[in-house]
Amino acid sequence: MPKLKLGVLISGRGSNLQAIIEAASDPGFPAEVAVVISNRPDAYGLQRATAAGIPSRLIDHTAYGAKADFEAVLSKALDEAEVDLVCLAGFMRLLSRAFVERRSDRIINIHPSLLPAFKGLHTHQRALDARVAETGCTVHYVTPGMDEGRTILQKRLAILPGDTPDSLAERLLPLEHAAYVEAIQVLAGTLPG
Ligand code: GAR
Repeated sequence: MPKLKLGVLISGRGSNLQAIIEAASDPGFPAEVAVVISNRPDAYGLQRATAAGIPSRLIDHTAYGAKADFEAVLSKALDEAEVDLVCLAGFMRLLSRAFVERRSDRIINIHPSLLPAFKGLHTHQRALDARVAETGCTVHYVTPGMDEGRTILQKRLAILPGDTPDSLAERLLPLEHAAYVEAIQVLAGTLPG
């Protein structure tokens, strides 16, 4: 079976990228990272890609006057790498309708909440403020809206007495990594490569 080719888009630390890279180092994993693209020059994930010998590109959105121009370059880079599935992994830009519709059901994202709860930023603080009993993470299809789109899978995490945004983020991160790898495996079984 040909492997699903992934294009991983990042803006920062890249720990979800690292989890995907490590999963893909298993010969039995049904996907491979074809390219890593960052919109920020200082994203540590770029170094992770280099360390793993994976081609990477910096496409700095601030260098383009219009979103459409940024996305045209992004789209070309994904096409050149023959990417089947785009994985947003801490990529902090909204994508336009035209970009998303061209890759319908082939762009996914991870978000650190049980969507539709707590879209956007500061999810852990907002979960604590709302005094909910649990939080978690969601892997979902991407739409032009922020943190919207059909859920592929979620993992849940109980909120404990004394939890802070930092402690929640720390306990959730391994669940995010597992969720992203699992979601890619699920999709690899359904998407033609
Ligand atoms: C992750 O917690 C991810 O869920 C979140 O950014 C972090 C990136 O970490 N994404 C969002 O909030 C998207 N709305 P990473 O760079 O170490 O993978």
